[in-house]
Amino acid sequence: MIIDSFNENWRELQQHLAEMETSHLRDFFASDSQRAENLSVSACGLNLDYSKNRITLKTRTLLMRLAESAQLEKKRDAMFAGDAINNTENRSVLHTALRQQDNKPVFVDGVDIVPQIKAVRLKVETVVNQVRNKDWLGYSGKCITDVLNLGIGGSFLGPKIVTTSLKPYVQGGPKQHFVANIDGNHLHDVLTTLNPETTLVLIASKSFNTQETLTNAESTRQWFYDYGVTFEQLSRHFIAISSNVNKAVAFGISSNNVFPMWDWVGGRYSLWSAIGMPIAMAIGNVGFTELLKGAADLDKHFNDAPLEQNLPVLMGMLGVWNHNFFDCQTHALLPYSHYLRGFPAYVQQMDMESNGKSCQLNNEMVSSTTGPVIWGAEGTNGQHAFHQLLHQGTSVVPVDFIQPLVADHDMDGHQDMLVANCFAQSKTLMQGKTYQQAYDELVASGMDGILAKVIAKHKEMPGNRPSNTLTFDRLTPYQLGTLIALYEHKVFVQGVIWNLNSFDQWGVELGKILGDDILARIDQPDNTELSDSSTELLLTQYRYANQSVI
Ligand code: F6P
Repeated sequence: MIIDSFNENWRELQQHLAEMETSHLRDFFASDSQRAENLSVSACGLNLDYSKNRITLKTRTLLMRLAESAQLEKKRDAMFAGDAINNTENRSVLHTALRQQDNKPVFVDGVDIVPQIKAVRLKVETVVNQVRNKDWLGYSGKCITDVLNLGIGGSFLGPKIVTTSLKPYVQGGPKQHFVANIDGNHLHDVLTTLNPETTLVLIASKSFNTQETLTNAESTRQWFYDYGVTFEQLSRHFIAISSNVNKAVAFGISSNNVFPMWDWVGGRYSLWSAIGMPIAMAIGNVGFTELLKGAADLDKHFNDAPLEQNLPVLMGMLGVWNHNFFDCQTHALLPYSHYLRGFPAYVQQMDMESNGKSCQLNNEMVSSTTGPVIWGAEGTNGQHAFHQLLHQGTSVVPVDFIQPLVADHDMDGHQDMLVANCFAQSKTLMQGKTYQQAYDELVASGMDGILAKVIAKHKEMPGNRPSNTLTFDRLTPYQLGTLIALYEHKVFVQGVIWNLNSFDQWGVELGKILGDDILARIDQPDNTELSDSSTELLLTQYRYANQSVI
């Protein structure tokens, strides 16, 4: 980052903001019939219409200058080259190498990692084929009908959301079950539906140290024991994906069933690794390869496209413009697709665990706000839940509408309505409704003029609210790969602007430690080392409510 020019560019944007404050998107569209044409870009099957942001071509130019003065391209190249950009853990960040389509060497500590990536991928493909071809047999000689995936965070969200999103491609394999939470209800409810003879358990945990996952794994192992399965027979029913091979073996998983992952793959960026095994189990190895190819093509686009035509750069910088200049503190993802209903939650971890930080790479506290709150839900459901706030609330929420264009069903008329609603919502956010329009409509409908003046004020909608619309033909494995990689790189772009390390997550450590401390206190009511009065009050309530069982 070249501080002086960066600060100068930031000031130029602040001055430009002042010019933009009185503008309205209605006027921009009314005065330029080519606006959408000029502020749209397509790549890798994705079409981004970003014309409904409060920008002009000058805005785009100034935003790209800011990216340049942040040395975005140099930092992007450093990531792809394997530099230890995760400075606090001294690690490379190379989820991109996992989907690389060629064998171009990528070095970490002087070792080309591509051969080991390919070797693990081949091992995964072999197991996936064994299970899907019913050649993998359980302790009683039966094939696998159900896969129980135990993991949380990035070891859960990616596999879960991708298999949900690609439902039409989930064919011919065992049924997938995902359990993440420590709440025993979930594991209990799933186990009651399973037969230990035909169940394969995938324990996904990079650290093999996560309380929820290990506890769920231990309870599941006990479930097998309760059915009389021996320790030796467990190897037919447990697979682990972890960078902590020794801990996985110590749990009782044969070393041949442990699939390694590496420190240079962050949990929230790991679905491209063996963590993605459940995806391949569900859609097959060919589908998983397509997913990887989509991401690889988006990587190429991110590397090659000029900044002003670069999807991740445009989305990242528009996010900075809305967040840091228009003070929009949250960002909504609204996929108008039932299959993509989990996508907001996936991006929530990716974005908020990457950029929800306050300390810069140079150890100084940030001087601007950083990662926005990411939220969202499938459309059209949100229209009947929170769109009121989007249209008339005091908080302006930038929206990414995500719309597959071609239905993968034959329900007559439904896709037309879905798409019409999606496009109408971004249009409504953009143009709003003036008081006069509302008043005239009410009077035209026969309402008394005096009452119309009252009601019209409540029907006035400011509009001028920013949104992107991402469209693509079909939700295929390839296209989903491009979409996920797009958001990964958007997050990277914003981390560069805010000068953050987007790849560690120190903020989640203390909660885990305090959780262990409080867990220990539950069984020690007489422990004199009192915690704060709230924790003591809550523990007393818990002990009292469960006095018959604790
Ligand atoms: O606590 C946060 C986190 O470390 C995430 O970054 C990660 O995806 C998740 O927990 C699960 O971690 P692991 O894969 O090591 O079990």
